Amino acid sequence: MRSVLILSVVLAVILGAHAYSATWGKAKNTDYQLLHQVEIRYPIKNNYWNVNINYPASGVGYYNISAIYVYDNFKNSSGASPTLYSGGPGYRFATINLKSQVNRGINSTVVIYGK
Ligand SMILES: *[C@@H]1O[C@H](CO)[C@@H](O)[C@H](O)[C@H]1NC(C)=O
Ligand SMILES: *[C@@H]1O[C@H](CO)[C@@H](O)[C@H](O)[C@H]1NC(C)=O
Ligand SMILES: *[C@@H]1O[C@H](CO)[C@@H](O)[C@H](O)[C@H]1NC(C)=O
Repeated sequence: MRSVLILSVVLAVILGAHAYSATWGKAKNTDYQLLHQVEIRYPIKNNYWNVNINYPASGVGYYNISAIYVYDNFKNSSGASPTLYSGGPGYRFATINLKSQVNRGINSTVVIYGK
């Protein structure tokens, strides 16, 4: 059992690193889901997408963010790489940047929890 657990953790780390998903912070089961946003962009020839996701859309929100999860829905190493530009866990706002690869689009899901 233990070796299976360790193996799956190792696999998750490897897959995570290649799938361009990211996690900041940790959500508790009493936290609210503050945002669930799917960002879709179609490939641009010889160029890439650079997209900022702001939570809330402007200013500072009511809830204290506990965790941010970004899932790359491509799951094949061709997705956008996520960066936390500002805010995040412990703050009431966040800006997450999604930078796609050249000639490749974006299909990433951003989920934010807080309380
Ligand atoms: C984005 O990913 C989701 C989940 O895999 C999929 O259902 C959806 O069709 C994808 N959309 C595009 C435009 O690729
Ligand atoms: C990755 O998956 C997406 C969606 O299924 C597809 O459009 C894209 O061509 C794939 N990229 C590579 C490098 O296989
Ligand atoms: C947000 O929550 C964290 C973790 O519970 C806490 O340390 C921090 O002080 C809180 N920040 C605000 C602005 O309430």
